[in-house]
Amino acid sequence: MRGSFVTVEGCEGSGKSTQIRLLSEKLAADGVDFLVTREPGGSDVAEQIRSIILDGKNSAMCDECEALLYAAARVQHLKEIVEPALEKGKLVICDRYVDSSLAYQGAARGLGYGYVETINAYALEKCPPDLTLFLNISPKAAFERKHGADKDDRIESLGLAFHEKVYKGYLGLLDKYPRICAVECGGSKWETNERIYLLLKEKGIIK
Ligand SMILES: Nc1ncnc2c1ncn2[C@@H]1O[C@H](COP(=O)(O)OP(=O)(O)OP(=O)(O)O)[C@@H](O)[C@H]1O
Ligand SMILES: [Mg+2]
Repeated sequence: MRGSFVTVEGCEGSGKSTQIRLLSEKLAADGVDFLVTREPGGSDVAEQIRSIILDGKNSAMCDECEALLYAAARVQHLKEIVEPALEKGKLVICDRYVDSSLAYQGAARGLGYGYVETINAYALEKCPPDLTLFLNISPKAAFERKHGADKDDRIESLGLAFHEKVYKGYLGLLDKYPRICAVECGGSKWETNERIYLLLKEKGIIK
């Protein structure tokens, strides 16, 4: 039987990596056969595309080119990593997926959801997540929390106004895509993780 595909979304510092790590510990203890990946996720081709996107020398890159490169890396990662694991019946958990493109390129960069949906047709039609966890914390709150936890100031350097647009972009997806569940992130990271674990059970992703 095909495995389930769960994606984790949210603004910078919302806790995606932390929550996936805590969830992995629970799943391993439960004996669940799962794979954690992230875009571009260990695929050589996808990583080469990603390095073009992130290369500081490529400041001339237009928003459309950026969006198309993310979409290209995504399909490669799906075909090389995600789909083979799903076919083996694994639960695949992916840190960021197509909703990141909808929020960042579609909303924050202003390309619109429609454009991003069109270029991500493969991901949306052939490999839609069974469940998407949206870690619902504003960029400002996430930044303040992260600032307390470590000295990482990527959010500050990227600009709060941009990330507020990303956050609004995510909120705009909640009604559009019922597969997306907002997870409240108040309280400790363990409390948030318990919410996530129970949600996976409630949705029948795990027993
Ligand atoms: N529910 C929570 N409550 C309090 N603190 C949390 C919670 N979840 C995560 N954190 C803390 O907030 C920070 C979130 O960082 P993390 O790297 O997990 O976020 P991220 O979404 O993966 O960020 P990035 O987009 O940069 O990869 C960490 O310091 C973590 O310990
Ligand atoms: Mg992370």
